[in-house]
Amino acid sequence: MKPAILVVDDDEVMRQTLSDVLKKKGYAISTAETGGQTISSVKEHFFDLILLDIRLPDMDGLDVLKGIKEIESDLMVIVMTAYSDVQTAVMAMKSGAYDYIDKPFELEELKILIQKALETQNLKNEIRQLRRQGKEKHEGIEIFGNSPLIKNVMELIEMISQTPRTSVLIQGESGTGKELAVNAIHYRSKRVNKPLMKINCSAIPENLLETELFGYEKGAFTDAKGTKKGLFELANGGTIFLDEIAEMKSYLQTKLLRILENQRFMRVGGEREIVVDVRIIAATNKDLSALVNGGQFRKDLYYRLKVMVIEMPPLRERMEDILPLGNLFIEENNKELGKNVTGISEAASEYLLNYQWPGNVRELKNIIERAMILSNGKEILPDHFPIELRKGQMEGLEDRTSDTEDLALETVEKKHIMDVLMMMDGNKSKTARMLGISRSTLREKLKKYSIAAA
Ligand SMILES: Nc1ncnc2c1ncn2[C@@H]1O[C@H](COP(=O)(O)OP(=O)(O)OP(=O)(O)O)[C@@H](O)[C@H]1O
Ligand SMILES: [Mg+2]
Repeated sequence: MKPAILVVDDDEVMRQTLSDVLKKKGYAISTAETGGQTISSVKEHFFDLILLDIRLPDMDGLDVLKGIKEIESDLMVIVMTAYSDVQTAVMAMKSGAYDYIDKPFELEELKILIQKALETQNLKNEIRQLRRQGKEKHEGIEIFGNSPLIKNVMELIEMISQTPRTSVLIQGESGTGKELAVNAIHYRSKRVNKPLMKINCSAIPENLLETELFGYEKGAFTDAKGTKKGLFELANGGTIFLDEIAEMKSYLQTKLLRILENQRFMRVGGEREIVVDVRIIAATNKDLSALVNGGQFRKDLYYRLKVMVIEMPPLRERMEDILPLGNLFIEENNKELGKNVTGISEAASEYLLNYQWPGNVRELKNIIERAMILSNGKEILPDHFPIELRKGQMEGLEDRTSDTEDLALETVEKKHIMDVLMMMDGNKSKTARMLGISRSTLREKLKKYSIAAA
């Protein structure tokens, strides 16, 4: 979407020149002649930047500037001042102008200033996005696997990336890679250089969710001293990911439906419509059609989202991906942790292949990570797996405990220590406390059993 600029000047030649030049630069230009027009225009439309002549026939330019900021506190305004009127320039900056330019000016100079302003605006948005993502590590975009099921998903993603406006619904159990699919779509699409905004609808209280998504206008509620842009505006040109969409309350579903239909919405407490160009990707691990039947999810919204559906297959339905994925995670961790684990032993592989993976790929990833922490040697052995994985196995293989060696007290102790250590994420103090022994006793035992705890 082209950046939208409002050019305000009472001089017709100036207005015309500026709009011609800026249109050529690829901006969407609107114009206004008076302060009154400017204010009503800002109330009705959405602009990325305003180029404001400070000398207007009907109003003091500074008042116009203040008026704009009242409506939209973080709107970028570049003020055009008369040559050597330093005082007005200073006042304008104090009133929240981004910058000023003296008339007469070189068009080239103005173009650079505008570009800088828009970049600053983008940067601000990006910073807010990064803050939102918080500690999240750099995110993967490569979907890995050779099974026909996952190959299908990859093909679908490839196709969807080419249609940057289509909304997408991703369904799948926890840990199947729904978010990974979102990243893959966004970063392969034309929207790659625009923001990818993510929000988990179940993690945020209802009323906050609304303002997070749609922003608010000044005075929308008691605390709303200024205006705030919502994620839909911040994601403009890019993608918004609505995770756990099933948790969204009905009136928000309605608002979402409107955006899907005509790309328009209003901020909370607002009266003007804002137009955005955003691809919406929603995900859920619930059965949405069941929720529709039960009346908890809007049918029209469901059908609107359902146009393009990706079903992330559970790991147990694509067993052939388990070991290759396991080896991929070993490789990644070797690099990251400076380890040198060579692979998964045959016996350990058996365990992985016989497990049902309720937590899917995420569970596999965690189990491999933990096993690598525990494995002293070069290979991952069954001993390095947590109890639930081995338990599932034992049910299948009737009588493992008849193996006398496994009953030796020391073997049991070793396994127990490793299980607790894993449960505590490798934290030795917590593990010792849990086991009811001192840290130094734990250390001795770890040494005795050659358990390498990171
Ligand atoms: N096919 C895959 N190739 C490589 N890594 C994968 C694959 N699928 C999932 N992962 C990894 O597994 C982890 C879980 O994936 P992701 O967060 O995308 O799952 P999810 O479906 O969003 O889970 P939840 O429903 O719990 O939010 C991530 O670290 C992701 O990178
Ligand atoms: Mg997720």
